Amino acid sequence: MQSQCLLLCFLALVICQGTETVLDLFPEYKIVQRKIDALENDNKALKVEIAQIKDCQCSNRKTTPVFSSVLTHPLNVTSNAAIKFNRVIVNIKDGYDPTSGIFTAPSKGVYHISSTVMNSNGKKLAVSLYLNDVKITSIYLNPASKTFEMGTTNMMLDLKEGDKVTMRSRGSYTVHSNQNVYSSFSGYLIMN
Ligand SMILES: *[C@@H]1O[C@H](CO)[C@@H](O)[C@H](O)[C@H]1NC(C)=O
Repeated sequence: MQSQCLLLCFLALVICQGTETVLDLFPEYKIVQRKIDALENDNKALKVEIAQIKDCQCSNRKTTPVFSSVLTHPLNVTSNAAIKFNRVIVNIKDGYDPTSGIFTAPSKGVYHISSTVMNSNGKKLAVSLYLNDVKITSIYLNPASKTFEMGTTNMMLDLKEGDKVTMRSRGSYTVHSNQNVYSSFSGYLIMN
């Protein structure tokens, strides 16, 4: 009689427990499962962020085009000729060519381009910033007396890969510089 009762009790227990899952039997598994879910969500968010960073390439010293080149001597230029800023200071992605004075955009994006030029003592100097064959802006120095003057331009250009940016002379002039380095040409990618 006693053993039959025990058997019934045991069967009742097994039947009751049969409807429960392993998660009900071991509550700590629920905590672990919640942590796994949270980590999976974090992982998804991080993957999205990494993709955005890769796409931006901002402030990456290996992939962000940046250039500066300076002139270290007086340079005579004829009308429409590109000014060849001869000494390269920095040229990440090799967009600037000192032998031609041309900056060729290594990748598309918005670039900040700037240039400063000095006139020869008392002489007129007119130069223009060109995007391909389109004149964007000019620097005009026309001293009334025998003085050196400097002019600067700063432009934002939305460039396609391969677009060419130059500083070109508007006539037969001398762009002045010497070892003190008064004339320069710079640019960098702000965003793509
Ligand atoms: C540049 O032009 C100036 C003025 O015309 C001239 O005196 C000078 O000799 C020229 N320099 C060179 C290197 O041709």
